[in-house]
Amino acid sequence: MTFDTTIDRKGTHCVKWDMMETFYGVPPETGLAMWVADMEFRPPQAVQRALERMLAHGIYGYFGDDRAYLEAIRWWMDSRHGWQVDPSHIFTTHGLVNGTALCIDAFTAPGDGVVLMTPVYHAFARTIRAAGRTVVECRLALADGRYEMDFDAWDAQMTGGERMLILCSPHNPGGRVWTAAELRATADFCRRHDLILVSDEIHHDLVFPGHKHMVMPKAAPGIADRLVMLTAATKTFNIAGAHTGNVIIADPALRKRFADRMMAMGISPNSFGMHMVTAAYSPEGAAWVDELMCYLDGNRRLLDAGLNAIPGVRSMALEATYLAWVDFAGTGMTQAEILDRVQRQAQIAPNHGETFGAGGEGFLRLNLAAPRAQVAEAVNRLQRAFADLQ
Ligand SMILES: Cc1ncc(COP(=O)(O)O)c(C=O)c1O
Repeated sequence: MTFDTTIDRKGTHCVKWDMMETFYGVPPETGLAMWVADMEFRPPQAVQRALERMLAHGIYGYFGDDRAYLEAIRWWMDSRHGWQVDPSHIFTTHGLVNGTALCIDAFTAPGDGVVLMTPVYHAFARTIRAAGRTVVECRLALADGRYEMDFDAWDAQMTGGERMLILCSPHNPGGRVWTAAELRATADFCRRHDLILVSDEIHHDLVFPGHKHMVMPKAAPGIADRLVMLTAATKTFNIAGAHTGNVIIADPALRKRFADRMMAMGISPNSFGMHMVTAAYSPEGAAWVDELMCYLDGNRRLLDAGLNAIPGVRSMALEATYLAWVDFAGTGMTQAEILDRVQRQAQIAPNHGETFGAGGEGFLRLNLAAPRAQVAEAVNRLQRAFADLQ
């Protein structure tokens, strides 16, 4: 298989294609699903073989002995990110939304403020609110078409009722790879305001050539006493349905609180996810990700060139992630008019910017992790839908 192969996912209980008519009124037969953050690609063969071995054995009992799994994570973080993780610091949750929810539960109390740099991944705010905590939106500043942190404004915004900051690194949406200085400034901000820092680094492998992600423990080693790291192989290898993610905590007191919540909730791993991640975090998996990023780089260039040619439309220059963040505000159209053109005329299902919080208005998020022909088709449709502007 190459990344150019189109794989029909319709009718497979795939949320991205099988629910888009329900949520967007875009039928899968004619539409292009560009919302949910999973890819249209099969994972590396190593992952497929791991599942085939499970299938051939045919017994799906409880998982035990996680040494190979932990060693695979240790190897991956060391060889890809230069980070030496102590395997005894790793908890396995049912993905990172689950990991985030457990952190909120373990480290904050009802009514506490949880700080987000918005616009940001929508599930953070949903989870915080559902847990009865308060979302504190700190707006990212837009400078020359890219997001920047604004600590002077955010210092003034803090009331003392905040307990946690959830950082998205690299940033979804907007695709920023935060610099070491920005990461250190985030850590300093958390210390100044006595916040637990939850660093969600699920996109850390999806970085474009020319950019380098730095894991928070390397950027700010002094923050270990209040740091919770969230990592996963699921976004990297397109195995999100495995619902397997890691919460990594170096501080013993925080680790004990988290372990108690895991126990209280009865959380233990899903064996399919454990086998898939162990197989993915391998030299074969590493080579696959390198190829993937070159392919996605081509998609990103195609989409940016096509959309930036439409007057008033600007696609943010991605440094990481396969999620294009496109600003339609310059068209001067209302949200309803933009959605009519994108969803009804172009038959494309995007994520709506305002669901990412303050600052997301006027944007749409488009997933470009698809065969190039699909991305080209999306560009053509959008150019036609906005042809009167050109
Ligand atoms: C920043 C971020 N965190 C978490 C998730 C989802 O994690 P999971 O599928 O492990 O719950 C996503 C999915 O897009 C994401 O962008």
